[in-house]
Amino acid sequence: MDISLEVNGRPARLSVDPGVTLLDALRERLAITGPKKGCDRGQCGACTVHVGGRPVLSCLTLAATVKQEVTTVEGLSTEDGLHPVQQAFVEQDALQCGFCTSGQVMSAVAAVEQGVEDVREFMSGNLCRCAAYPNIVAAVEKAAIDKAGRVDASL
Ligand code: FES
Ligand code: FES
Repeated sequence: MDISLEVNGRPARLSVDPGVTLLDALRERLAITGPKKGCDRGQCGACTVHVGGRPVLSCLTLAATVKQEVTTVEGLSTEDGLHPVQQAFVEQDALQCGFCTSGQVMSAVAAVEQGVEDVREFMSGNLCRCAAYPNIVAAVEKAAIDKAGRVDASL
């Protein structure tokens, strides 16, 4: 079947099997490899992307059902530099091997935008085999504090 996606601001038309996941469409058809295939069964969070601004597991999402804009980690940075959450991950040394990081960042962006208070609970679906959890939480909390500061400064 023919489908249309908008990924990181760019339209794409694809002819796919109805059972193709969004993760496979991104990685194998559009060469967007930020979302990682960890478990491919909804248990690790490495494939997390945003659809319509909300985090979803792309390995559990059929590409043909996606009607809203898709944002992957590749779509976060701008010509001004890294997204503030990415910058916070760098500053807090919130990664080791990096395999889980794109999924962690996408969930973290949602956590900061939604102003969640329990970061550990919100991020509990994103596993890290390197156990970088303390630094990941620190990065999310720093990004949230920085965002609050920017909001205050603009008032
Ligand atoms: Fe999707 Fe693990 S690859 S949750
Ligand atoms: Fe290695 Fe998370 S940094 S799995």
